Amino acid sequence: MIIAIDGPAGSGKSTIAKLLAKELGFTYIDTGAMYRAVALKIKRLGIDPDNKEAVINVLKETDIRLKNNEEIKVFLDGEDVSSEIRTEEIGKIASKIARYTEVRKILVEMQRKIGEEAKNAVIEGRDTGTVIFPNADIKIFMTAKPEVRAERRFKELKEKGLNVSYDEILKEIVERDKLDTTRKDSPLKPAKDAIIIDTSDKTLKDVFKEILSIVRSRLSTK
Ligand code: DC
Repeated sequence: MIIAIDGPAGSGKSTIAKLLAKELGFTYIDTGAMYRAVALKIKRLGIDPDNKEAVINVLKETDIRLKNNEEIKVFLDGEDVSSEIRTEEIGKIASKIARYTEVRKILVEMQRKIGEEAKNAVIEGRDTGTVIFPNADIKIFMTAKPEVRAERRFKELKEKGLNVSYDEILKEIVERDKLDTTRKDSPLKPAKDAIIIDTSDKTLKDVFKEILSIVRSRLSTK
């Protein structure tokens, strides 16, 4: 069974996807982490994300792996970069390089392979129900107002001890939404058969319960 969860930054999709995978014993596939790992490499090498050719050449020489053990980890050329990729700056570079069809082709192929090998997986991102697994058994599109999403990110980063500004985060979220929804290749949008959940006025605990009950009823008819 493949469960595809898509949505914009800060919609709560990562939290839900991880909880769901844990509860069901499914493999968790974070597709955004793969774009972020490439973005980190680009940054470290000092490459301009607008230099499409250079970005593609780097990706061709890059090894990205997701590991699902006790903790979920992301490896870039063998190095654990799980924490380092979680900054707004890397998110923004990831969004820029995600515009390139060649980049998407390479990463989508890797993501399909991971999903097929896992058999039972919760896969989250922007195009998991529209492009990677258009035949996914369950498709969820999570969303929330930009202000609510910015508030969640703000709290999360503050809890990690980072000195951040709410206004700056909101601005970045709006910018990233624009990049992700307006790109030509695989823009962020709900699949036609996706269940859309607006989490603005809900707790993530309630959203988790709601999605779990959808999954359980689908599993019982399978
Ligand atoms: O979900 P995230 O914030 O970790 O994703 C970072 C960026 O990567 C996002 O702004 C756009 C891109 N992305 C994508 O284009 N397609 C995906 N399936 C996942 C992420």
